[in-house]
Amino acid sequence: MISPRKTYIIANWKMNFTPGESSLYLNRLSKRITPSRNVQVILAPSIVSLQPLSLQINRRQFKLAAQNFYWRDYGAFTGETSVSQLRGFVDYAIIGHSERRYIFNESEEDIAQKVAAALRNGLTPILCIGETAMERSDGETAASIYSQLANGLHEVSKEDISKIIIAYEPVWAISSNKDARPAKPADIEEAQALIRKHISKLYGKTASEEISILYGGSVNSDTAGGYLSIRGIDGLLVGSASLIADPFCAIVETAKGIKNER
Ligand code: 13P
Repeated sequence: MISPRKTYIIANWKMNFTPGESSLYLNRLSKRITPSRNVQVILAPSIVSLQPLSLQINRRQFKLAAQNFYWRDYGAFTGETSVSQLRGFVDYAIIGHSERRYIFNESEEDIAQKVAAALRNGLTPILCIGETAMERSDGETAASIYSQLANGLHEVSKEDISKIIIAYEPVWAISSNKDARPAKPADIEEAQALIRKHISKLYGKTASEEISILYGGSVNSDTAGGYLSIRGIDGLLVGSASLIADPFCAIVETAKGIKNER
């Protein structure tokens, strides 16, 4: 039997909020978002806020995710933070976000090593994949999805695939990009089907049915319900709309409503 998949709503705050602002914002969210067994809300603040928020947070209500880290556990890597240093503060790690791939030239090898490092340290990797506008217009969407998945999961064994979350974030749909446009539900449904097909080939049918796939890109409180109703989509990775309490809380409420209907 297929296990009922949880819904994940992830707030990627990107490089916004000081530790003080993060703390105040968490305080506001915690008054409005009640814990739920079916909907896991995950906050990804910037690295300086992780430690203080980990002390403040009610872990039944929210979990924390790192936005980035370096894959070696310790050593002479000036300016970097290892996932072993983040252990205890976070339960999840966003890996391979397009802003890391394209602004900071993160390689497929780095991404694969980060997925392995997160697993080694007991964190759940949230592996982000998604085609660029040019790949889409050149008809290379499927090829891009396949290669980012295969490369990103290169180090992941059959036993560990159930510990991974995949986030499909087409680069052209992310609100900070020039000419960003929201993805159509049909495109997202097709992408999740491609991802499951590939997971099935690599890890078997059960893994492909059990893996959680999220969507990210220009999600707001008006569009969240539509995206969450797409077959095979198990949650949302939210950027700009996660920075304001009203839309973010509305997205979480929508997710809870949809989950309760199922
Ligand atoms: P926006 O929701 O601002 O498009 O950002 C999406 C994103 O990059 C989440 O990781």
